[in-house]
Amino acid sequence: MINKCLFPVAGYGTRFLPATKAMPKEMLPILNKPLVQYGVEEALEAGLTNIGFVTGRGKRAIEDHFDFNYELEHQIEGTGKERLLADIRNLIRHCTFSYTRQGAMRGLGHAIHSGYTLVGEEPFAVVLADDLCFGEKQGVLAQMVGVFKQFRCSVVAIEEVPEEDTDKYGIIAVDAITERIFRVTDMVEKPALDQAPSNLAIVGRYILTPDIFEILSTTEPDASGEVQITNALLAQARQGAVMAYKFRGKRFDCGSVPGFLEATNYCYERFGYE
Ligand code: G1P
Repeated sequence: MINKCLFPVAGYGTRFLPATKAMPKEMLPILNKPLVQYGVEEALEAGLTNIGFVTGRGKRAIEDHFDFNYELEHQIEGTGKERLLADIRNLIRHCTFSYTRQGAMRGLGHAIHSGYTLVGEEPFAVVLADDLCFGEKQGVLAQMVGVFKQFRCSVVAIEEVPEEDTDKYGIIAVDAITERIFRVTDMVEKPALDQAPSNLAIVGRYILTPDIFEILSTTEPDASGEVQITNALLAQARQGAVMAYKFRGKRFDCGSVPGFLEATNYCYERFGYE
């Protein structure tokens, strides 16, 4: 019913320079696993096996990561190191991976629109890999698929953020349906504190209905020249067709060095490492 997940991974990752000069930011490891792999594991757990990447220049390492490396695997065959490849082998076995390029950096909305060729006319999920999420019992995407099955419209993951941080996120206004599920009535991309309709922020997990592509094709770029997914979602929200879901779990902003460090410490505590 929903089995596609899009990963926009064309961004430059300038906050991590010089590390990201020649390496995709999505390949930075939390412990020994690249960020993007956590995202794909979350997608698989939610039953999404058709993985699409919207890539750009300098992102080839992502394609190589989700493929066999015969020489290396031959080298370590039969040694204790093979177990380090167990998780990635599991993803390769269960998922398919497709790639398309975003020719120009024109914002998240433009990146998602570029994914049309991989998604087509089906509902699909979007994961921003630098928002690293750990669900409580289920992963965040799996929880959202449950909400989608109930309402059959677009779903955004949200969390409460400190008021001074509203200018870092898409911020929404809502009508509450349950303790964790809300109908979105308004949304603004990165508002200043005095313009923010609430402190409920969209984090990097979306389920989108395919009419979003048509809407994106007529969504004007904002003042910075970027097509915002938030503005396209607002058109759906005006039809009552966007739900917000306050997920059970934890999320780390791995697009910033302090958030990345916090995620690393959390994973070390939770999963350990030998
Ligand atoms: C994007 C979206 C924003 C959302 C955020 C979540 O912003 O535009 O609405 O709240 O992701 O991480 P970015 O972080 O790419 O600037």
